[in-house]
Amino acid sequence: MLRGGKVGLRARHEDDVPILHTELHDDVVNAARAEGRPWRPITPGSKDSPFVGDDKEQRVPFSVVELGSGTLIGTATLWNIDNHNRSAHIGLGLLPSSRRKGYGTDAVAVLCHYGFVVRGLHRLQIETLSDNSAMLRSAERNGFVREGVLRSSAWVMGEFLDEVLLGLLAQDWKPYA
Ligand SMILES: CC(C)(COP(=O)(O)OP(=O)(O)OC[C@H]1O[C@@H](n2cnc3c(N)ncnc32)[C@H](O)[C@@H]1OP(=O)(O)O)[C@@H](O)C(=O)NCCC(=O)NCCS
Repeated sequence: MLRGGKVGLRARHEDDVPILHTELHDDVVNAARAEGRPWRPITPGSKDSPFVGDDKEQRVPFSVVELGSGTLIGTATLWNIDNHNRSAHIGLGLLPSSRRKGYGTDAVAVLCHYGFVVRGLHRLQIETLSDNSAMLRSAERNGFVREGVLRSSAWVMGEFLDEVLLGLLAQDWKPYA
């Protein structure tokens, strides 16, 4: 397990999936804002769940747990891993009861450690909706800088929203900033 100050990132366990599915995917607004594709109902236990599957090369899914108790609190993913350009994207989703406790900021820190130290990547990237203050702040607290606005790039529940593109280079990363 990878450890931060407050959270641990471990492998996805089979019994994490129904919890993540109910708390994150079945919340239509949360899923529409976070998943970047049209929401549709997915049968429990289906291989189509966004929390199932690991293509090993390009996408590494973690379950996020509270360090002290080991309780599942969310999902964290390094995705679109490109070993030629040595870059990857970060994705994060915490259960509603675990938000706003500093876990998101710490989970980004642990993903940076995984990306830069374990995988030897050079650049990490995050795209998030421009009104997602918690994600923007979690990224910026770890040294990510805003590189641009993708205007009207996300169709979310009946409207186009802007996304902010944030990037962090290995040489600018300060562990646990
Ligand atoms: C985005 C998310 C991962 C952030 O994790 P979190 O644990 O809630 O964030 P933290 O507690 O670490 O807070 C980070 C900062 O954002 C601020 N913040 C948190 N929630 C906020 C909110 N709803 N509105 C405004 N600011 C907020 C905190 O005060 C903190 O600011 P500080 O650094 O100045 O103290 C989490 O809220 C989440 O899973 N949201 C739903 C899914 C999602 O949006 N995923 C991202 C898709 S790109």
